[in-house]
Amino acid sequence: MTGGAGFIGSNYLHWMVSRHPEIRFVNLDLLTYAGNLANIESISAEANYEFVQGDITDSALVEMLFQTHGFDTVVHFAAESHVDRSIEDPLSFVRTNVIGTTILLETARTFWKASDSMSLCRFHHVSTDEVYGSLGTTGQFLESTPYAPRSPYAASKASSDHFVRAFAETYGLPILITNCSNNFGPYQFPEKLIPLTIVNAVSEQAIPVYGRGDNIRDWLFVLDHCEALELVLQRGTPGQTYLIGGGNEWSNLDLVNKILDRVDESLSRPEGTGRALVSFVDDRPGHDFRYSVNTDRIQAELDWRPSHSLDEALELTVTWYLENQDWIECVKDESYMRYYDRMYGDRISNKDDG
Ligand code: NAD
Ligand code: TYD
Repeated sequence: MTGGAGFIGSNYLHWMVSRHPEIRFVNLDLLTYAGNLANIESISAEANYEFVQGDITDSALVEMLFQTHGFDTVVHFAAESHVDRSIEDPLSFVRTNVIGTTILLETARTFWKASDSMSLCRFHHVSTDEVYGSLGTTGQFLESTPYAPRSPYAASKASSDHFVRAFAETYGLPILITNCSNNFGPYQFPEKLIPLTIVNAVSEQAIPVYGRGDNIRDWLFVLDHCEALELVLQRGTPGQTYLIGGGNEWSNLDLVNKILDRVDESLSRPEGTGRALVSFVDDRPGHDFRYSVNTDRIQAELDWRPSHSLDEALELTVTWYLENQDWIECVKDESYMRYYDRMYGDRISNKDDG
């Protein structure tokens, strides 16, 4: 897998590693600002898990890893993932999301073709509903909705999805694509709306709400996403795309207020303390108005639906951030970036590298 030190990848490892002792997990992650080894500290000593620091655009490294481990499955999370950063620096999104994905595809194709076991292999590409663009007040994305990305992030993910499909059509690569709505939960970097709201509320700092806060997102608890990813990998039809979503559409302002009330309650603060922190700021350029996904396919084919209600999941998430102030402090003072050196020195891999 790639990107396992990030938000969703680390939750996936928490979900999968102990459930599947029969699988050996090799986690290739560059440890950009978004990668944090503290997210997967509890997994690092598991016998069926190995960490490799490296870049998915480093084709020699990716090839060496295929040769060493003989992977039959790739689950690809690694990406630049934040829309606002993509507006500042679109090229790094092209590099990792488009070129990095294509290097993984090309290496997998070469190795799986040579091993003659292509049909048993799987390349699972983890993607986003943002590739479909922006909805008005009604309607939903379907797997068949034409792509219409509107941010550099969404365009880079759309491009990577196209390469994944092209490798299936052209070379018969057994691929799976999942396009999921907005996730939230433990270990999410506090540049995204929900963790930013919680972290700023705790320290009583302003909470920036773009525009009037009326943009709508569909929210899904990250472990429900991980369960869906597990099912798709185990039983999904090769070549197929599956939409994944929570069925929880909220305007940003309503959601922020809901979280702020919960934080006030948890910290026994006077009602309204959090809401007073909301600060309306300039809108994001090209801000997609609404996302909503139709999950009929994954429900019908794989019998998946989210296990957590929005309220339960927000409760778990707020509690996690309140109980993990150390994690927040290490992110704020950036000391989490030195975690790798403390854990592994200057080695590339934590095992078997002599
Ligand atoms: P994240 O930004 O939290 O984590 C990304 C991880 O990828 C980090 O650990 C980072 O170090 C690693 N990485 C970045 N560039 C790399 C490179 N060149 N080589 C190797 N590793 C690299 O992202 P996330 O929120 O966990 O998202 C994971 C995937 O899920 C992404 O592909 C994203 O597009 C997709 N997705 C995210 C959401 C969401 O709400 N967060 C929703 C749907 C889909
Ligand atoms: P974000 O968490 O960045 O996810 P995405 O852009 O991928 O949907 O943003 C979620 C929504 O919250 C989006 O409509 C932008 C808005 N937003 C704010 O209003 N303020 C903020 O500080 C951030 C980060 C996002």
